Amino acid sequence: MSITVDIDAKIPNNVDLKGDRRLQRALESWQPKFIRWWEELGPAAFKDNPVFLRTAIDVGQKGWANFGHVSMPDYRWGVFLAEPEKDRKIAFGEHKGQDVWQDVPGEYRSALRRLIVVQGDTEPASVEQQRQLSLTAPSLYDMRNLFQVNVEEGRHLWAMVYLLHRYFGKDGRGEADAMLERHSGDSDNPRILGAFNEETPDWLSFFFFTYFTDRDGKFQLASMRESAFDPLSRTCDFMLKEEAHHMFVGATGIGRVVARTLELMREHNTSDVHPFGGINLEVLQKYLNFHYSVSLDLFGAETSTNAANYYSGGLKGRFHEERRTDDHVLTTLYRYVPEATDAGIGQREVTQLASLNETLREDYTVDCQKGIDRWNRSLTEAGSDFQLRLPHIGFHRQVGTFTGYNVSPEGQMLSTDEWAAQVDNWLPTDADKAHIKSLMVGVTEPGKMAGWIAPPTSGINQKPVDYNYIKL
Ligand SMILES: [Fe+2]
Ligand SMILES: [Fe+2]
Repeated sequence: MSITVDIDAKIPNNVDLKGDRRLQRALESWQPKFIRWWEELGPAAFKDNPVFLRTAIDVGQKGWANFGHVSMPDYRWGVFLAEPEKDRKIAFGEHKGQDVWQDVPGEYRSALRRLIVVQGDTEPASVEQQRQLSLTAPSLYDMRNLFQVNVEEGRHLWAMVYLLHRYFGKDGRGEADAMLERHSGDSDNPRILGAFNEETPDWLSFFFFTYFTDRDGKFQLASMRESAFDPLSRTCDFMLKEEAHHMFVGATGIGRVVARTLELMREHNTSDVHPFGGINLEVLQKYLNFHYSVSLDLFGAETSTNAANYYSGGLKGRFHEERRTDDHVLTTLYRYVPEATDAGIGQREVTQLASLNETLREDYTVDCQKGIDRWNRSLTEAGSDFQLRLPHIGFHRQVGTFTGYNVSPEGQMLSTDEWAAQVDNWLPTDADKAHIKSLMVGVTEPGKMAGWIAPPTSGINQKPVDYNYIKL
């Protein structure tokens, strides 16, 4: 089974848009609204300069993207679904073993629409959150990566809007319009999830955001790739290819900050590199604590009836559902979830079905740890005894059982006074933020880097680091 790519269409696609005139017209009338949104709330600077960008053009094995300089308003945002899997069966829940769905069953219509809307809303939200960052990019290479992430989040919005238009009729079209009407941080009409209403104020935050928050996206997409609703599954499958680069930007970005800090520490024989324009390891740890904890909140409460219903219905599976060897129904399998009470942090036993959010959050944590290990290896190799680490899952949480409790990064339950006395050691202070802000100066000469970050070890798509990634 193979699908045809129409790369020259007004909306590039591999979903045979020209075979469905009504749908094509509807999406073509949404397109100028998207462009208007991009112009108003997309990147604030360098928006018309030619940028060396990757554009999705296919989904096959032989290569799915091309690279070239393009001015962002002319970017070819398209709709691409991964190749269908022949005779795919539902892998979990009440309908396990049945054929997957090519259309939306009536009983799951509103739940599926909600899943798609919540995912879709995060995509333009992050573009809005990051819109000021191009002004202070530490290099052209980094600015290019920022724009790459931004245009692909825009494409992810297209992916979700296609599903809404194609499968949810008038309601879907209304939801697609609303995606461009809610705005990050808008007090009247904010984005759906809390973490997507905070501005990304500086590049250190951007790197941690792409490392931790885009990785939440990876886990959400990976569990929707398991969906019985095949078009959603294929959409998410393809989005995951793009998402990998976003996390790469975060992982290598933090790695380069660590490298530069170590260099300054060596050069000046001190662990306080702030006077020399660097970022202290303790400050990196505080930013890490913040971004990890707010990203944990995105997975929702430890136990969730919604998540259980999504699973039983076959709408959203677990990470790597098909590789697991249990019954894929989970109603009679149990696990422990953490439970915070006034007596301390304990646990309680619940069905695996009830605790899917916690299971996904744990899988996410395992994935987060891998990059931390890599950064720590470079610290060890440089002779530093400092190690970065993930705080306890109860630290600084606003969702679920830990809400309202003060938990230290080590997992100690604290009184309000104890917390207040130490929080400045754990989360970025105003002084830390001011220092980071002071380092944010745009560097636009090819190959040059700001002083707080080391150059990358290689460029993009085999180009050198000093390649002219953005034509000024
Ligand atoms: Fe995305
Ligand atoms: Fe992303």
